[in-house]
Parts: sequence; structure tokens; C-alpha cells
Amino acid sequence: MRTSPICLVTGAAGFVGSHLVDRLVDRGWRVIGLDNFLLGRRENVADAVKSGLCTLIEADVNQIESYTAIVRDLAKDSPIDMVWHMAANSDIKAGTTDPDVDLRHTFLTTYNTLKVMRSLGCRSLAFASSSAIYGPHDNELTEDAGPLRPISNYGAMKLASEAVITAALETWLERAWVFRFPNVVGSRATHGVIFDFFRKLRGNPQELEVLGDGRQAKPYLHVRELLDAMLLAWDRASGRFNCFNIGPASGVTTVEYIAKAVVAKVAPNARIRYTGGSQGWPGDVPRFAYSIDRIRSLGWTPKLTSNQAVDLAVDELAAEMRQ
Ligand SMILES: NC(=O)c1ccc[n+]([C@@H]2O[C@H](COP(=O)([O-])OP(=O)(O)OC[C@H]3O[C@@H](n4cnc5c(N)ncnc54)[C@H](O)[C@@H]3O)[C@@H](O)[C@H]2O)c1
Repeated sequence: MRTSPICLVTGAAGFVGSHLVDRLVDRGWRVIGLDNFLLGRRENVADAVKSGLCTLIEADVNQIESYTAIVRDLAKDSPIDMVWHMAANSDIKAGTTDPDVDLRHTFLTTYNTLKVMRSLGCRSLAFASSSAIYGPHDNELTEDAGPLRPISNYGAMKLASEAVITAALETWLERAWVFRFPNVVGSRATHGVIFDFFRKLRGNPQELEVLGDGRQAKPYLHVRELLDAMLLAWDRASGRFNCFNIGPASGVTTVEYIAKAVVAKVAPNARIRYTGGSQGWPGDVPRFAYSIDRIRSLGWTPKLTSNQAVDLAVDELAAEMRQ
């Protein structure tokens, strides 16, 4: 008799993926983690692997033949109940100069994951989508907001990923959870504005260069709260297509706030230099606000405001950098 679900996590050794693996293992799930180690790190999932419940495999989701063979072999005795698809390009700027990056790592990873799932008869998928699918809007964004006009290749390929998921629901996929993340922060980050500021100040403790005018303002969510929300939605939302914005308890945080917090933590004498302009780079949505009423209606209550999530993440990254 099966005692606990078996799942596949793509991008398992990355920032969000590794925290997800830890939480699934805590629940007693058996996890097969795949990562090509583009940004993922083995040490992120070392404890999960030690628990005996997680198998970590180096694989590229876009090498469809080896991906299928690996998963088929692992699933031969016990079928995989669901897939948590986290693998993607997470460097939005990189997709601006080379759109193939997002075609390959953001879209094709989803397309190929669906293909493998279909061939194995695995019919439940949870997907890490993004606020980037919405593009610039002045109003508070609900899940049904539109028209959707992403302004980055990353956002476009996340939106295309959502579209192939809903198309699969029409024919063979039974259930999908699509989570639209804001900026997620916390320990093990592999990228993002806080991570970038730490890296820049390590290179030059005298000056922090900030892209844009510092007034870009977006919601930031701590990774622990993101996972609380995703797991609660998985437990409680049982529609065919379950789509949720996930965000902090309230507020948005400016880039200026983040710059000052990181400077205060690691280089109090550093000067902050803004490059100017309302956007950090082409494709950057400078400000947006989310409605999270839908996931709140399931009973989820985030505890941290956007600024509190940033403060906690700054402390966590500072501690990690000292190690
Ligand atoms: N962190 C955020 O602020 C944020 C916001 C919105 C959406 N997301 C989404 O959440 C997911 C996780 O992001 P993250 O922040 O943990 O980024 P991350 O880069 O730390 O994690 C992605 C992981 O996927 C792996 N990967 C990439 N391409 C792969 C491939 N072809 N085959 C196998 N592995 C591959 C990378 O090595 C990495 O470990 C991504 O889908 C990302 O787009 C993240």
C-alpha cells in the first residue's frame, strides 16, 4: 500500500526548488529532484538527500530522451503522483539580450515536462509562474486581470507556459496549480536584487550602483511564506485549474529601501549611486501591486509585510555570506 505521495521536482537544487524539497520531505513525501545545476547547488538539498526521502539527479529537462528515460526508470516500481515544475531561467535580464534563453529554459522546460508527464501517465502539475506575465498595469492585479502583455521574454515564456498547461488540461492533464510569484526572497537565493547588491558590495565596498532611480516598488515575499501558500493551496484547492497570485501581507518595497538595508548591513560607508530612469532595465516592470484575495479565501494569511520580508532576507543572506 502506498503511504506517501511520490513527486518529481524540476529545478530542485535552486532557490525555491530546494526549499520546496525540504518542505515536501518534512511532510513525508518521496521526492525525485532534477536539476542541471545551471544555478542550483547540491548543498541546498544535502539534508533532504540525507533523510533518505529525496533522490537528486543531474539532468537537463530539455534533453527529452534522457529526461524521459531517467524518470521512467525511477517511476517503474512506484508511479509519480505529481510534478512540481520549478526549473526556468531566473535571470530576467539575460533574456533581454538573448531571447533563446527564455525559449529554452523558461518555455521548453514546461513543454518538455508536460510531454514526459503525458508519456508516464502523471496527471497533476504545480507550476511556478510569475507576476511578469501581467506586464505593466496601474490597478491592483487579480488573477483574471487582462489584457496580458508581458514586456520581458521571461514573462512572455511564463505566459506561454501557462497556456500550454491550460491546453493540456483540455485533453489529458487532470489538475494544475499555477502559482504567480512576486519577487521571492530568502536564504539560498541564487539571484535577485538583494543578492545582486550583496555581490556588488563585495566587489566594491565603497559604492553601490543601483539600476534605475530606486523608486521601482514591488511586493517582496519571503520564501517560507511562499511555500506555506503553495502547500496550503495544494491541500485545499481541488479544481481543475487552480491559479493563485501569492504575495506578502501588505505593501511594496522600493529598490531604494533595499539598497539602504543592504548597505547598512554590510558596508555602512558605501555611497549609493543611482543610474537613473524609472526602469532597472528594459523588460523590468517598475511597479505593480497584487490582489491575493483568492488565496486568502482558502484560509492563507501571510504574516510578513513586503518590507519585513526584505529585512529578514537581508539578515539571512548576510549570515550566509559570512559562512
Ligand atoms: N525567485 C523569484 O523571485 C521568482 C519570481 C517569480 C517566479 N519564479 C520562478 O520560480 C522558479 C524557481 O526560481 P528560483 O528563484 O528558485 O530560481 P533558481 O534559478 O534558483 O532555480 C531554478 C533551478 O532550475 C534549474 N534549471 C534551469 N534550467 C534547467 C533545465 N533546463 N533543466 C534542469 N534544471 C534547470 C537551475 O539550475 C536552478 O537550480 C522558476 O520557475 C522561476 O521562474 C521565481
